[in-house]
Amino acid sequence: MSNKACIIGICGGSGSGKSTVTKKLIELIGRENVSVIEQDSYYKDQSNLVFEDRIKTNYDHPLAFDNDLLYEHLKMLKEGREIEKPIYDFSIHNRKKEKEIVIPKPIIILEGILIFSEANLIDIMDIKVFVDTDADVRIIRRIKRDMKERGRSLDSVIEQYLSTVRPSHLQFVEPSKRYADIIVPEGGENEVAIDLLYQKIKSLV
Ligand code: C5P
Ligand code: MG
Repeated sequence: MSNKACIIGICGGSGSGKSTVTKKLIELIGRENVSVIEQDSYYKDQSNLVFEDRIKTNYDHPLAFDNDLLYEHLKMLKEGREIEKPIYDFSIHNRKKEKEIVIPKPIIILEGILIFSEANLIDIMDIKVFVDTDADVRIIRRIKRDMKERGRSLDSVIEQYLSTVRPSHLQFVEPSKRYADIIVPEGGENEVAIDLLYQKIKSLV
């Protein structure tokens, strides 16, 4: 392979275990060799809207993301240039003012629910993984996570799940599985799949 960085896409529904797969891969590859980019960081800036309107956005729709900026940044990282990644704050449904410098590394992991829903993103990834986890497991994980880490109430998580997360999952996330090179059932717990992935990554860099 060329001396350009290798981009690994980890897609899957909310609560599927993408972050766990990413964490396990980082442990194997070594933090010094990986930059992680979450598509979540590229939710569009919504400073023009008040909080009451920002909660109405469908965050599970491809149009909620600034995928052009994400693509630009991936191209830059691939060419060995550093980027200023936006930082997202789930509790206020908006980007923070600060940015984070991301230094290019030989391996880039791109993680997100809708990374297989945009042609140029699909094209730039070298390995595409879909983490496939049953909906009941995903909603349980999401309730726990959103209440603990994202400042949400149980009622708000359930209402959002039924009104936007579930329909958009079925419309956009689930069908995007077809673009994956490999589908990993039960993400983070699947040691065999993670090891196979690791072997493949080693052969590429
Ligand atoms: O980490 P995970 O893949 O679950 O993050 C994506 C989820 O974050 C989406 O399903 C979306 O509903 C949720 N989200 C949210 N509020 C925002 C932005 C995203 O609940 N302001
Ligand atoms: Mg996540």
